[in-house]
Amino acid sequence: MKIAKTKTELFNYLHSKTESNVKIGLVPTMGALHDGHLSLVNRSKIECDFTVVSIFVNPTQFNNLNDLLKYPKPIEHDIKMLEEAGCDLLFNPEVDEIYSPEEVWNYEVGALDGLLEGEFRPGHFQGVTQIVFKLFDLIKPHFAFFGQKDYQQFLVIKKMNKDLNLGIELTACPIIREVDGLAMSSRNIRLNAEERKTALIIYQSLLFLKTNFEKHSLPQLLEKSREFYHHELLSLEYLRICNSKTLNQVKEKESEVSIALIACFVGQTRLIDNMILS
Ligand code: PAF
Repeated sequence: MKIAKTKTELFNYLHSKTESNVKIGLVPTMGALHDGHLSLVNRSKIECDFTVVSIFVNPTQFNNLNDLLKYPKPIEHDIKMLEEAGCDLLFNPEVDEIYSPEEVWNYEVGALDGLLEGEFRPGHFQGVTQIVFKLFDLIKPHFAFFGQKDYQQFLVIKKMNKDLNLGIELTACPIIREVDGLAMSSRNIRLNAEERKTALIIYQSLLFLKTNFEKHSLPQLLEKSREFYHHELLSLEYLRICNSKTLNQVKEKESEVSIALIACFVGQTRLIDNMILS
């Protein structure tokens, strides 16, 4: 696997590929890789000729400095995982290789910006679209692979891809879960044993919603599923049942697909998860 730390190195490695019509797949990540990321790499390897993974802890998408500073960076471990997975090229730049201090970014995310993650992490999607646009522009992939765990992020990137005519084939890959059901996340390593056990409640509440979706009314579903969070280690930010396209909360059961989305602090660690209900 080649490793590019700078844009020049990246261009040098990619030059022959772009010239010769090789199908390039991109898996953008912030590192601290787990099997969820590897499932994206595997998907890219199946669908593309050349797989690029980026590892960049993007400061502009964090609205909490402490969260940014505490973000895990086990780069040696990540490199080993990517080598074993057969990644072709890793792009792992420093912050000043990507951003200049006077840089501004304004992309009109639209209604999705004021909902859920956008509501609780103001400016988050400005940062996400900024870095993803840059990665798309630098790497010029034909395909890009994202995890369904960041469901809203995928909708936002899909919108940007369409609005700006970027023409990249985007795929959301299924959530990969631990054996007991906890969604894999780079943040899980911050949980202590007690928190790790408690974090399972997120999955249990989603399963409850899915199993009982046809049986109960929406207010009953919301009330009962929120009861799962009456626990001293948990602090629920949102648990909502939304239209899977608009992410507006559904008022009554619709013929369109509904999705439950959750963000919750387990101790000091913020986790998100979701599940398609209908
Ligand atoms: O999902 C992530 O890990 C990040 O938001 C992304 C897409 C790599 C942008 O920094």
